[in-house]
Amino acid sequence: MIVLLILILEVVTIVQGGCPIRCTCTQNSITCVQSSLEYVPYFESLDNNPVIIDLSGNPITLIDIDDFSFDKSDQVKEIYLNSTSLSIIDDHAFDELENLQELYLSDNLLHYFPEEIIRSNENMVLLDLSSNYFAEMPKIQSKSLEVLAIANSRIERIGDDALDALPNLRILLLQQNNLKSVNPVIFSGMNNLFFVGLAHNPWLCDCKTVELFEFLISKRFVDVTEPVRCQNEKKIFVELGGKCADFNVTKPSNEIIVTTEFDNDFYYALMLFVAIITSLVLGATCGTCITYKFLTRSVKMSESKNALLYDLRV
Ligand SMILES: *[C@@H]1O[C@H](CO)[C@@H](O)[C@H](O)[C@H]1NC(C)=O
Ligand SMILES: *[C@@H]1O[C@H](CO)[C@@H](O)[C@H](O)[C@H]1NC(C)=O
Repeated sequence: MIVLLILILEVVTIVQGGCPIRCTCTQNSITCVQSSLEYVPYFESLDNNPVIIDLSGNPITLIDIDDFSFDKSDQVKEIYLNSTSLSIIDDHAFDELENLQELYLSDNLLHYFPEEIIRSNENMVLLDLSSNYFAEMPKIQSKSLEVLAIANSRIERIGDDALDALPNLRILLLQQNNLKSVNPVIFSGMNNLFFVGLAHNPWLCDCKTVELFEFLISKRFVDVTEPVRCQNEKKIFVELGGKCADFNVTKPSNEIIVTTEFDNDFYYALMLFVAIITSLVLGATCGTCITYKFLTRSVKMSESKNALLYDLRV
């Protein structure tokens, strides 16, 4: 009887042998959410074929060069490292993940993001860097990236060449940062761009902001149904008037009291959801071609970007 028990125990241990401790494995995923892991676990002797690795909610702080270089790393398509207190990521940490498509790094302590870190991942579609601590928008190089989310990350500046190395970018989310002005030139070469989220930034109430939004509206990059708000000298958010000349006139009737606590969590969640759906569609199809056709067709058919974004959810 005891021998039998030992045998059963042994069988159980062998079955679990390929899955890192404190993680749950299925045929194609490794899930170690909120498991108090301080390091990326050892993935060398896996029994399964992981497409998804979810390490979110662990106090990991650092990603080292060989954390994601293991035998089956070329099968991984999605990595969740959000809410992991990350502050340092090695420049080559993701090099071996040949098929990586989605990387979630939101809600961390990143002040810096290495420019070439996803350059060799030729299938990257979505990168979420929201809720981090970048004063300047990180410049990123990727020929394939379609969705870049860096909302709520204290960004004050965007370099004129910030998007130059992202030729395939379609959706850029920059809501809830500290942007006061942005040079429209950064968007001018973005032929695939389809949506830019810029709400809840303290835009200056001046002619430059008017020109920026006129440009973005003319390119259909922003949602025209959503009023553009700027922050005046009294730190009050007001609706940006249509014309540059309006700025000499004080218009108290236009003032809107906007609390400093943003109430657009839902809005942001929606945007990211849409972004994820978009990337899923992409992942499931031939890469970029079908979605591109779908998006261009929808833009023409839809009056409002919002309606279109809602349509995309279905
Ligand atoms: C990590 O991000 C994903 C996708 O946004 C989300 O579903 C998940 O709840 C997040 N995990 C944690 C621990 O916050
Ligand atoms: C704003 O007012 C100043 C003087 O009060 C004037 O010199 C300037 O041309 C005005 N600007 C616009 C855009 O009307």
